[in-house]
Amino acid sequence: MARSALLNVMVQAALKAGKSLSRDFGEVQNLQVSVKGPGDFVSQADMKAEKIVRDELMKARPTYGFLGEESDELKGTDGAHRWIVDPLDGTTNFLHGIPQFAVSIALERNGEVVAGVVFNPATDELFTAEKGGGAFMNDRRIRVAARRVLSDCVIGCGLPHLGRGNHGKFLVELRHVMGEVAGMRSFGAAALDLAYVAAGRLDGFWETDLMPWDMAAGLILIREAGGFVSDMKGTTDIFGSANLVAGNELIQKALVEVANRPIPTR
Ligand code: IPD
Ligand code: CA
Ligand code: CA
Repeated sequence: MARSALLNVMVQAALKAGKSLSRDFGEVQNLQVSVKGPGDFVSQADMKAEKIVRDELMKARPTYGFLGEESDELKGTDGAHRWIVDPLDGTTNFLHGIPQFAVSIALERNGEVVAGVVFNPATDELFTAEKGGGAFMNDRRIRVAARRVLSDCVIGCGLPHLGRGNHGKFLVELRHVMGEVAGMRSFGAAALDLAYVAAGRLDGFWETDLMPWDMAAGLILIREAGGFVSDMKGTTDIFGSANLVAGNELIQKALVEVANRPIPTR
């Protein structure tokens, strides 16, 4: 598998930040039993990881813009390119000692995501894709699952929680989808959820109220793995709508239809 120079830069940045997160994850597991808990420590770990990614990327391409979750957006002098970064996706998992979190790095060119990397340092799984080059997990080519009907599918979703999301609307969506599928999962790290769709582990996924850094790298992973992504209405305005539905061509369409069914009367 030959990677472009740009993708190599992204991979090196993700591995370096992942190493730092891995070290801190060990400490988080110790802090679970402390009275203060690991909260502050995790914020530091998160910001440290973003600084590592930002320094690596800006060193390689100083003129590109940078949009990261933990710092102010930097407008580059090169108006065409922008990095979109979540240094730690799955913060709640990380905080609770659950090894389901990732560094997510995407490159946008003229408004289109053209490369993406999602790295889970706890499992050493590195998902990469660039436009036209296919999607990979470590060195292996990945593809979305080929299941054709929802009744065979395991579907992932994000769960609203205290202070986040529209609970009533989600419960209607869930009620419709859960009645049609073989299983539901919610792993709590959207970037990895999308990588799992690309790798065929999840047949489909939907979530609302996401930010560009949660979705950007996952979008290209799925597309390069042969999958389809839209917003909840079936349009391509994914960043604008802040929500997405993913799967292979058939499952993605079926999910959009089922999740949008009207509120049941009984
Ligand atoms: C969160 C995770 C989670 C999703 C939330 C995101 P964070 O990102 O991706 O799975 O449900 O909407 O905010 O805060 O862990 O980077
Ligand atoms: Ca995130
Ligand atoms: Ca984050």
